[in-house]
Amino acid sequence: MNNLKAFFPYVQKYRREFLLGIFSLIVADCMTLVVPLLIKEFIDILPQKPSVELLLKYVLYLFLISLVLVVGRYGWRKYMFGLSRKIEFDVLNDLFSHLLSLDRLWYQKQKTGDLMSRATNDLRAIREFFGLGILILIDAVFVIVMAVTMMVWINYELTLNVFIPLPIVSILFFSFVKEIRKRHEAVQEHLSKITGHVQENLSGIRVLHAFVQEENEKNKFENLNQEYIKKNLRVTQVFGIFTPSMVFAIGVAGMISLWMGGRSVIADEITLGSFVAFNGYLMLLSWPMMGIGYVFNLTQKGLVGMSRVNEIFLASPSISYRGENFIPDTNSDLKISGIRFNYPGETQEVLKEIDITIPCGTALGIVGKIGSGKTTLARMLLRFYDPDSGDILINGKSIQEMPLKSLRDYIGYVSQEPFLFSTSIRNNIALGRENASESEIERIIKISGMTSDLESFPDHLETMIGEKGVTLSGGQKQRIALARALFKKPPLLILDDSFSNLDSAMEKELLSNLKIYFKDTTKIIISHRLSTILDADNIIVIEDGSISEQGNHSQLIKSGGIYASLFQSQELAREMDIIL
Ligand SMILES: Nc1ncnc2c1ncn2[C@@H]1O[C@H](COP(=O)(O)OP(=O)(O)OP(=O)(O)O)[C@@H](O)[C@H]1O
Ligand SMILES: [Mg+2]
Repeated sequence: MNNLKAFFPYVQKYRREFLLGIFSLIVADCMTLVVPLLIKEFIDILPQKPSVELLLKYVLYLFLISLVLVVGRYGWRKYMFGLSRKIEFDVLNDLFSHLLSLDRLWYQKQKTGDLMSRATNDLRAIREFFGLGILILIDAVFVIVMAVTMMVWINYELTLNVFIPLPIVSILFFSFVKEIRKRHEAVQEHLSKITGHVQENLSGIRVLHAFVQEENEKNKFENLNQEYIKKNLRVTQVFGIFTPSMVFAIGVAGMISLWMGGRSVIADEITLGSFVAFNGYLMLLSWPMMGIGYVFNLTQKGLVGMSRVNEIFLASPSISYRGENFIPDTNSDLKISGIRFNYPGETQEVLKEIDITIPCGTALGIVGKIGSGKTTLARMLLRFYDPDSGDILINGKSIQEMPLKSLRDYIGYVSQEPFLFSTSIRNNIALGRENASESEIERIIKISGMTSDLESFPDHLETMIGEKGVTLSGGQKQRIALARALFKKPPLLILDDSFSNLDSAMEKELLSNLKIYFKDTTKIIISHRLSTILDADNIIVIEDGSISEQGNHSQLIKSGGIYASLFQSQELAREMDIIL
């Protein structure tokens, strides 16, 4: 019920359309309900040999009723279906903004395919509920109540007799309610599993090809699909019993009505017209009785959809700011003060007492073995995660007191696995700042060493990346990602192994560009290759989440620790490379 309530505001927003839709529906229903009454009067006056004018009057009434019916039906279609589309539109927009606001911690627990399924399949179920579902529900309830009222008005004794099968119908109905919901839930969950499977396969298609896993995956998919059919059939099974039972109940009611009503007419207890009208109302009941089954289907799907979409809405970002709203100067020192961290749900601590000050405008080099915690430290600075203890301070103030947007605007981050969007190179670099000046983009491209690459592309800056355009090399991707970060002119630049795919000449060029054009920018450079950080003002070696050595290059070489031996082996490898 709470899930349904969460969607009320969406309906509230379009209450005019909603009310107009319902109004049109009620008008159309009233017209349908008047017809048997009209036929009753018509039949009842027939034995009195009415005049042609009188007969024509009835014909005209019927014609008018049909006209109003047409307008009413048009009205409810237009308003209710329009309303459901608008609600879908709004929910989808809100869902998307909400998804953007959620943080890494949450995404880590989600599957892309499942999220996509919620945003498409479940949302469709919600739309169908708000359009067709509510419509049929109100239609069915109104017609049932009115038709039964009319039947009671015509002859209540006959009505009571006709409804003898009713208790059986109700028992049937309520025993199905639970079962249908359960089975629907299973179908929708399974559908998201299938979407997830397809999504994962498409993303990893190259690996699948490389490992010749096509047949394997095809079989897995076939099994999933078969399971899906099975689960759907289980829903159909229930309906297979439910719908015919309803029809049967109406049939039995019709039988009783013919038998008892016929006898009443012979006994002159009711008029022939009343008898015909009574049966007319009874027949009117058959559609809503079956409609209820259908509405039930839609409602169940809609409610399951709502609870699944609402789960996303209820998730809230765990990263918030403590609200001093301070925005640091561009020349602020950065201090990482005793931070400890382990990933949620993991037992091993990834960072242990990291303590380091990075004076403004200096460069810090970070080296360390695979999995030693370098990337994790970078993520802490961006507040993808918050430390379990300790703090990160810019100009003496905790970054937790900064609005997230300001913090992330402050930092230019090139992640270890750069992600580029399937749009033009320009949009990838400017990312959201479409009114960027041409000369500024050109300058950044030059600094990132992309000028000659761009010249070889068909549309230069406008060249599309991905599906519709060029496929970039690892090094090109890294440099575009670097350009994107530099374009923000951030006071703090974090490069996470961002030169790993570049040759040493290009690396040298970029490092010297950074030194010249981003002289005042504080830099944190993570690298496996020592040549990248050789010139840094300070270098730390991270081992198992803590700093094991610290100093500049010559100091570290002198102290003869891990850094020195790493340097020696890398130098040796480089010399060997030259000789070979
Ligand atoms: N999202 C995550 N959830 C749980 N554990 C993680 C997560 N990301 C990384 N880890 C773990 O944290 C440890 C440190 O990972 P991190 O990525 O920081 O290492 P790294 O030093 O950057 O390694 P590399 O040199 O390979 O880039 C590893 O043991 C890794 O398994
Ligand atoms: Mg890393």
